[in-house]
Parts: sequence; structure tokens; C-alpha cells
Amino acid sequence: MLKITTTKKLLNELPSKYCRLVLTEDSPSVHRFVELSNGNTEYRMGAGKSKDITARTFRTLVRSIVQAAKSHQVEYLAIDSSSLYFPSLASYGETWLLSTLAENMLLADYEFTLFKSKESKKKKLIEVAISGTLSKEAEAGLKRGLVVGEYMNQARDIANTPGGHQSPSELAKAAKDLFKGLKVNTTVLGEKELQKLKMGALLAVGQGTRSETKFIIAEYWGAGKAAKGKEPIVLIGKGVTYDTGGLNVKPSGYMHEMHMDMSGGATVLASLAIAAKLGLKKNIIALVPAAENAISDTSMRAGDIVTSMSGQTIEVLHTDAEGRMILADALTYSERYNPKVILDVATLTGAALVALGEHASAIMTKDDTLRNTLVRLGEESGDLTWPLPLWDEYKSSLKSHRADISNIATNFSRFGGSIEGGTFLSFFAPKNVPWAHIDMAPRMAATTGDKLAKGATGEPIRLLVKFLEQN
Ligand code: BES
Ligand code: MN
Ligand code: ZN
Repeated sequence: MLKITTTKKLLNELPSKYCRLVLTEDSPSVHRFVELSNGNTEYRMGAGKSKDITARTFRTLVRSIVQAAKSHQVEYLAIDSSSLYFPSLASYGETWLLSTLAENMLLADYEFTLFKSKESKKKKLIEVAISGTLSKEAEAGLKRGLVVGEYMNQARDIANTPGGHQSPSELAKAAKDLFKGLKVNTTVLGEKELQKLKMGALLAVGQGTRSETKFIIAEYWGAGKAAKGKEPIVLIGKGVTYDTGGLNVKPSGYMHEMHMDMSGGATVLASLAIAAKLGLKKNIIALVPAAENAISDTSMRAGDIVTSMSGQTIEVLHTDAEGRMILADALTYSERYNPKVILDVATLTGAALVALGEHASAIMTKDDTLRNTLVRLGEESGDLTWPLPLWDEYKSSLKSHRADISNIATNFSRFGGSIEGGTFLSFFAPKNVPWAHIDMAPRMAATTGDKLAKGATGEPIRLLVKFLEQN
């Protein structure tokens, strides 16, 4: 992994193995690698007008620096910390600045190499040295950013792992590995226990495969388990380890990325790990219902009716609307924690991409404060979110004539597909608890302009961590 170090030395005092980064006010398209007569090397990079740098362009700039270094096979890079203090970023503070720097450097450096049989011959970026004296706040930010970036990349590894290599059991094992050395209690329930709990919706989704359905529970009691008034924040993540669509099979071209359908699960687990690593004095629970939506003679059928843990019966009108079914039971389960607030994170609908494109996750909540917080923290963290409504008007389309509720609109309309998913979940969310649904399908995989390796993005971990810190 890329090392990010600090040194009190100035740029020109560093050994010549370090390539010096020089940010200029040229347009970002102007960048070149220069060998100086004294044997030192410089990378001159346009960053645009200093006063025009925003949080967004700063994150992109940081990623571009790492990508440029990698493409020139620079092994050691040095950056003068004072060159990063852009005037318009001052209001965010130095902790934010250095954390954003570290996070985005690690994110941009990441590549998914677990399945490459030969190591690449290209030289890797080994170290980025931040030169100059850093304030306490800046040091704290750097430390935070390294933790966030590292766990995000671990979440990306988990999400990028093919479905054939990661059944629900293996996902549970990956969760335990993630929590190694941290004060996190992990419990993994199997099918017998899920039957006892009457999680009929979760079990139905996983019934088409021999891979056992699991329910992963991770608890971090950073504020003390018995502490009064310290009800936990509950994070729920969709853990479909592979989504074929079930008997309503997905068309070709729409299935091959569905090993990432557990990204919500990976991100809530990693966010909890980060909270534990940072030692947040908060109580946090992560719940991941994990199942494979497979095709066989034991798969749930379109038209089947299942009884959820809540007691509500669900008519399965579409076997590809499986994410909401497993989340339904997880929402019901969350009640036992008497949560202060619940966030669920899921690659729930392709319709979220139709609504928002590829740059933001859709959020749905009836709680105005929560909605505003999530949009603001999205801007601050880089994990952009944008609201869709959860009005009661949408409820009637799910009214089943054979069961209590159906898992898609009974008239098969595709209109407002993401809202329909959120509305379905609203029938299972504990009453009187602030709850937001984050449909992260648009951010499941990196897109052009992200300056990230293809595959999982690790989002919205940065948002969740900020939420946990500030809640
Ligand atoms: N996992 C998919 C949604 C998805 C699609 C995520 C593309 C990321 C990228 C989900 O389980 C699904 O299949 N949703 C259906 C819902 C429909 C049947 C109502 C969809 O989006 O088509
Ligand atoms: Mn599906
Ligand atoms: Zn799915």
C-alpha cells in the first residue's frame, strides 16, 4: 500500500529520489515531468486558478496527482504542504484538508489485483512525503484520512471479489477479517436461526442456492453498552453476494457486475470498522442480511407469497426486486436495538441511475433534518447524495390483492422505481425512528471522471463516517 509520510524538511532539502510536485495556476491539462540540472525531478501540474479551487476540484486534483505519478512510474513523490492551502478551502479547516488529501490519495492509488496471476512490471508509487510543519489539526486529519482510505480500499476489495468466490459465508468471514484487532463484536446467524427469527423474506431470496444465507451483526459499543441515552446508530447494508435476478433473470449485459450487489453491506461494515479504529465514543450497529439471488428449482417464484419477520406478507411479483426483501427483515430486526437513527445502504435500483446519473446516491427519508444533513455531508465528504420523495401517494401502487404488500408496483409500472423501492422499505422501518434509505446503485461502480480504478468505489463510506462522527 502507498505510504503517506510527513517530514519537517522543506522540498529542496529532500533527497533527489523524491520527485517534487509543483502546482501551477495553469489549466489542469498542462502538466509535465521535468529533470532539473541538479539531478532533481519535478512534476509541474496545472491546478487552475488557486482561488477557484473548490472541495470538489481539490479531491479531483489529489487523485490526478496520484494518477500522474503512477503513469510516470514515480516511486517517491514529495509535496510541500503549504501548496495545498487554497483560500476557498479554509472554511473546511485543516483536519478536513489533510484528511481529504490522504483519503483521495489512497483511493486513487488502489487497484484490484487479487486475481492477477502476474505482478505488473510497472513501478509502483511507494511513498508520498508531505513536507513542512503541520498543525495539530492537520496531523489529526492526515491520520484520519489514512484510516478512512485504507478501510475504503478493503471494502472495495470485498465488493470487487467475484460472486463465485464470495458466498454469504465468505462475506461473513471477510467481515471478521475486517474487524481484526478492533473492539467489534461480530455474530453471524445461519438459516436455522433465521427460521427461528421468522425472517421469511431474507430466507426466500436465498433459497435458490446451497450457499447458506447469513445475517451478519457487528456491534461497536464505543459509548458503553449500558450507557443511558446512548441508543445506537444502526447501519443496514444490502448483502446480495450475487444477483442473477432470480427466475426473472437479468438480461446479458446487466448481470456481470452483480457481484457488487453486496456493496451496501461492505460499506456499512467498513464504516463501523473505521469508527472503531478512530475510537469514536458512539454506539454503532451494522446489520448485513447476506444472500445469493440464484436460479434453481428451489428459487422463489414470481407469484410466491412469503411472510416477513414483521408478520406482513409479501407477494413476490418480481424476483429481481430482492434487495428490498432482505432489507425488510433487517429493518424489523433493528427494532431490538431501540435505535436512535437508522440508515440503510443498498444497490437497490437501476432506476436510481436513470434518475440521477452516475454521480450521486439517491436518499429517501421523511425526516427533513436527516435529509439536509445527508446532502450537506455528501458535499463535504465527496460521496454526493440527492433526495427523492417518500410521499404517502406512492404507497398505493404496492397494495397487493393476494398479500399485504407486493415487492414491485402491482401494475408493473417502472415509473419512479427507486421511490417504489424506498416506499416498500418504509413499511418495515421501525415507527418513530428517524430513518433514511440510501440507494447507492449509481455509485456502485466507478465512472469516467472519478479517476478511480474500474469497479467498486467504496462509497458512501466517507459520508457514513462523517455522519457517525457528527451525529
Ligand atoms: N441489484 C439490482 C439493482 C442494480 C442495478 C444495482 C444496476 C446496481 C446497478 C436490484 O436488485 C434490482 O435488480 N432491481 C431491479 C428492481 C426492479 C425489478 C423493480 C431493477 O433495478 O431493475
Ligand atoms: Mn435484483
Ligand atoms: Zn440486487
